Amino acid sequence: MTLHAGKIYGLIGPSGAGKSTLLRIINLLTPASVGTYLFQGEPLPENGRNKLKIQRKMALVFQKTLLFKDSVWNNVAYGLKARNFNSKETEKRVNLLLEQVGMEELANRRADTLSGGEAQRVAIARAVAFEPELLLLDEPTANLDPVNIEIIENMICQMNREKKITVVMVTHNVFQARRIANEVIFIENGKVVEMGPTKKIFSDPEKEKTRLFVEGKMIY
Ligand SMILES: Nc1ncnc2c1ncn2[C@@H]1O[C@H](COP(=O)(O)OP(=O)(O)O)[C@@H](O)[C@H]1O
Ligand SMILES: [Mg+2]
Repeated sequence: MTLHAGKIYGLIGPSGAGKSTLLRIINLLTPASVGTYLFQGEPLPENGRNKLKIQRKMALVFQKTLLFKDSVWNNVAYGLKARNFNSKETEKRVNLLLEQVGMEELANRRADTLSGGEAQRVAIARAVAFEPELLLLDEPTANLDPVNIEIIENMICQMNREKKITVVMVTHNVFQARRIANEVIFIENGKVVEMGPTKKIFSDPEKEKTRLFVEGKMIY
């Protein structure tokens, strides 16, 4: 499977297909048992420090939001401080991001007092703050209400458009994939069934299985 820079990929497939596992392999959290991994054309370095360099080009957001027990503002600033951004640049970026996800008024709130949707908006802002080259999202809007889903989808598309961040988003919602992805990857039982432009996957897929899945007719 080859991912091209600058695109938004929607990763879909039934529960247990291996979507989360694939994201963890891409993020180098789980080593792949077979196959070869190339990042920007280069094989994976043996050296742990160089591996960390690659990991630092990516950000991963889970369905279950993980925030630090600290203020909203500090949560978003965290990755910038860790990467030694100066305080002026950090302040500028954090304020802009909080505005983009509609959280500027809650900047001083403790993250553990936020609603699920607010927390996930902060998690997305934190993930994109350092402008990763690759943003990995594992069902980031599952269980959220339509307003929060829209804010998060808009943020993802904006970051892709303006900052050229490549996105791989796992979603069990095929409509979401159709709304925001340029390319769709459909996997089942740990294998890519079909991968292609979103329009083609939805209107004229090569495989019958793909058609059944995107039409919601696949039985598991
Ligand atoms: N750490 C693990 N060790 C062994 N099996 C795992 C592990 N994590 C997930 N699995 C199994 O791998 C399969 C794919 O899981 P997962 O990637 O979570 O699927 P998805 O995200 O598509 O629902 C499932 O059968 C799951 O039980
Ligand atoms: Mg999963």
